[in-house]
Amino acid sequence: MRIHLKSKDEIRLMREAGLVAAEILEDVCAAAKPGVSTWDLDRIAAKGIDKHKVVSAFLGYHGYPAVLCTSINEVIVHGIPRKAHVLKDGDIIGIDFGIFKHGYCADTARTVMVGHVDDDRRRLVETARDALEAAIRLCAPGSRLGDVGHAVQSYAESRGYSVVRQFVGHGTGKQMHEDPQVPNFGEAGSGKRMKSGLVIAVEPMVNAGTPDVEVLDDNWTAVTKDRAMSAHFEHTIAVTDDGPWVLTRPSSTPGNPGTF
Ligand code: MF3
Ligand code: CO
Ligand code: CO
Repeated sequence: MRIHLKSKDEIRLMREAGLVAAEILEDVCAAAKPGVSTWDLDRIAAKGIDKHKVVSAFLGYHGYPAVLCTSINEVIVHGIPRKAHVLKDGDIIGIDFGIFKHGYCADTARTVMVGHVDDDRRRLVETARDALEAAIRLCAPGSRLGDVGHAVQSYAESRGYSVVRQFVGHGTGKQMHEDPQVPNFGEAGSGKRMKSGLVIAVEPMVNAGTPDVEVLDDNWTAVTKDRAMSAHFEHTIAVTDDGPWVLTRPSSTPGNPGTF
């Protein structure tokens, strides 16, 4: 296991990648309305990739056939965009998007509520979102990776949900998936200490039922075994001496610096 710490210059380049990924994901999420297919969403993302002259991190990755992962309702992650998968009022859809710019990866995901979503689904989505925010606050030098997992797990479980163990967050850089693994569970005070220059993708997957996963026959789509709802959020975060820098957060967001 080899962790590639990034220099300030590399992190500045990764921020450029992050801003492009954030902008395209924003456009895709805004289009996630009833009647729109997940294939339509994939085409919007592909247009954004062309416009910004960046490279998809997903297309062709172990043979993956699209530039987005679109994971509706009981799908946890890695749903493949399809013309036949048309969004309905009340669905929740996890949209995961990754690019390379300047040779560096930015990987980010959000779960969008389509039209009018019932209170149970809304609470699940908000919990996954807030679990990621709790984890982000710990992405600072001196914290341990187990602190991040613990923050996600304890928050999600305190709200009555479970966290997926079969998929984890990860380092990111010249490769989409680098060391270290970043689990969404763990003990506070355990694991490696985070150093300035570490860049990780933190990505809680929160299930309404049990944490168990089943992969469908397409060998990608990961669903909850009990077919209960699941929500996923992800940001690429640089650990800096000034604290966490959320590279995939738009610069307009309060408290997120545009530069070092
Ligand atoms: N972006 C996913 C992750 O968060 C991985 C997607 S793999 C792909 O780590 F093949 F579907 F692109
Ligand atoms: Co991702
Ligand atoms: Co990721």
